[in-house]
Amino acid sequence: MDTNTLFSHLTQITTDTLDDHISDLYILQTNSSHHDDTSPSGTKLGMYSGKSSHVKLTNIVNDKDQSVTEEYTFEQSISNLNNTASSTGFVLWKISVPFLNWLLVCPYYRDLIHPSNPNDRKFILELGSGVSGLFSCFVGRVSGNRYVATDQYHLMKLLKKNIGSGLDSLGVSPFHTSTIGGGEEEEEHGHVSKKMKSKSNNNKKKSHHAKHQVPTIDAICYDWENIEQGQYELSQILSEHNEPAHNSKPDLILGCDIVYNDYLVPHLVNALDSLSGEHTVCLIGLQLRLLENIELFVAELLDRGFEVYQHMETVLSDEINNSGPFVIYYIRRRNEK
Ligand SMILES: C[S@@+](CC[C@H](N)C(=O)[O-])C[C@H]1O[C@@H](n2cnc3c(N)ncnc32)[C@H](O)[C@@H]1O
Repeated sequence: MDTNTLFSHLTQITTDTLDDHISDLYILQTNSSHHDDTSPSGTKLGMYSGKSSHVKLTNIVNDKDQSVTEEYTFEQSISNLNNTASSTGFVLWKISVPFLNWLLVCPYYRDLIHPSNPNDRKFILELGSGVSGLFSCFVGRVSGNRYVATDQYHLMKLLKKNIGSGLDSLGVSPFHTSTIGGGEEEEEHGHVSKKMKSKSNNNKKKSHHAKHQVPTIDAICYDWENIEQGQYELSQILSEHNEPAHNSKPDLILGCDIVYNDYLVPHLVNALDSLSGEHTVCLIGLQLRLLENIELFVAELLDRGFEVYQHMETVLSDEINNSGPFVIYYIRRRNEK
């Protein structure tokens, strides 16, 4: 990653500039043409589709050939969605698609998603994934990387189902997993791991990858209100795949629309604190709703020793800039040296 150039597109937020930052977000929110009352059911809150139980996305960019878009279909559960904070993950939220499309092609994050050295495997962890499995499939499928989607327990079944069927339809085969159903067990470097094989013929053709090129994709329960249990689940899957201890901290933590409730903010920041290593970059994309929630989130991060930056419009895509109001934060531990 060319960090010097990246940082010329980031605005640092400090305790002294937090008020100004929130005023800027207020202006962004007020000027957004999408902040209206005429949108279909649920979508003005930020749901991608508040009506269908099966959602087909036709506009995911292909990271290798950006002139091509790919399809992705998943199941969501409107009936399980109610107004409590813990059921929001049963549907896809709007920022996910533009955020994913940007992340897949943004040159500054290329090395975190597609390392140029195939031995430089990246560990990417997603917080509050929801059920769609979208990032797990499109970011997780990159050769050799380890991807761990996380959320609360009651979402796991549908999340795992969507990841399994999504990887199958994208022809991602084989991949290592300890948690996504349907795999077959096989000996791997002296330990037993599951290796999913795709059912379709098309996918069989692609199944002769060198071992180091096979992605590892898992989904685990990591509840911000029960971090100890989440860390245990994480350590279990890392040890099942013989991951050395120094690789236990993610290179990249992703989160989409995970700040929307003051109560959850300290728990979420605790989770970021427990998961982040010295080298970890966190990219958190948020829909602007109640700015008090976002202010609390940033204040809490600063208080806990994180550096927080906002991506400027210049480095974001038109899709993000025109479909918001969204903010995308770059967060990392403050370097005390
Ligand atoms: C608005 S949804 C966003 C889901 C998904 N990232 C998306 O953009 O479609 C917020 C997500 O945060 C998760 N979440 C809320 N409280 C949580 C907690 N205590 N621990 C873990 N995840 C939580 C919800 O389950 C939900 O999946």
